[in-house]
Amino acid sequence: MRHLMSPMDFSVEELDKLMDLAADIEANPDRYSSICQGKKLATCFYEPSTRTRLSFEAAMLNLGGSVLGFSSADSSSAAKGESVSDTIRVISSYADICAMRHPKEGAPLVASNHSGIPVINAGDGGHQHPTQTLTDLYTIRSLRGSLSNLTIGLCGDLKFGRTVHSLINALVRYPNINYVLISPDELRVPSYIRDDTLKAAGAPFKEVERLEDAIGELDILYMTRVQRERFFNEEDYLRMKDFYVLNKDKMELAKDDMLVLHPLPRVNEISVEVDSDPRAAYFTQAKKGVYIRMALIVTLLGLEGSIC
Ligand code: NCD
Repeated sequence: MRHLMSPMDFSVEELDKLMDLAADIEANPDRYSSICQGKKLATCFYEPSTRTRLSFEAAMLNLGGSVLGFSSADSSSAAKGESVSDTIRVISSYADICAMRHPKEGAPLVASNHSGIPVINAGDGGHQHPTQTLTDLYTIRSLRGSLSNLTIGLCGDLKFGRTVHSLINALVRYPNINYVLISPDELRVPSYIRDDTLKAAGAPFKEVERLEDAIGELDILYMTRVQRERFFNEEDYLRMKDFYVLNKDKMELAKDDMLVLHPLPRVNEISVEVDSDPRAAYFTQAKKGVYIRMALIVTLLGLEGSIC
């Protein structure tokens, strides 16, 4: 039995296979529409979500399976003090696979150690968000054709943004990628990403504060939301929240084929006037998240061989 806790749980070859499967599902959805018949996905979300939870549910429904779950800690027995390990033990007898989001770093990992079914980390605190990374990789590969030879700018809350941590973790295994880390000083990437991931992999990177100074050299701009829920006080959040606003003027400084990605939800960091720019790829990215999650469910349930 296999779980997904970090994008590093899959080798580059396995990621390629997963993305190939997602592409086949995207091109031929009917072939996969009953492959998970009789299977159930449990979505155990102890923290808010729209895209991740609903795209997991849509993915399982598209595969002919069914879904059950809860969407907040308050509506589960966590509110009564139940441990994650007890919850997953019980859910293992109700479902075939589980996607779990939790505000505490490592909670899905604890769950996986007590689980009888595959557990997918759907975001743990400010730590990792591997299925967003699968979505990001699949979007970049689909729209650019390859995951190597590019300059990527990651902009915003690089300290608390788990999608950024997971994406860097995954990307350092691909050749010839330059990283431009764009953040205010207080929201720089944690040292475990800077030192243990980027420096350890010998990946070229620089840290800058002004988006305008970097945008012209980027092939991908990955914008992120300032993670209000992870701040210790509201004042700091208010000071930081509108630090970056990508608007039409800034887009004029960018390459004609630069892609703008964002895991969403967006608050103010991308002005709505950018949505109609052909380089804005964040809604396509959210759509692609369903196909890659379909591929992931099929793979973790070991059903790749049953496609006719
Ligand atoms: C992200 C998350 O939950 O970390 N959202 C998502 O899953 N698409 C990003 C965010 O909340 O800012």
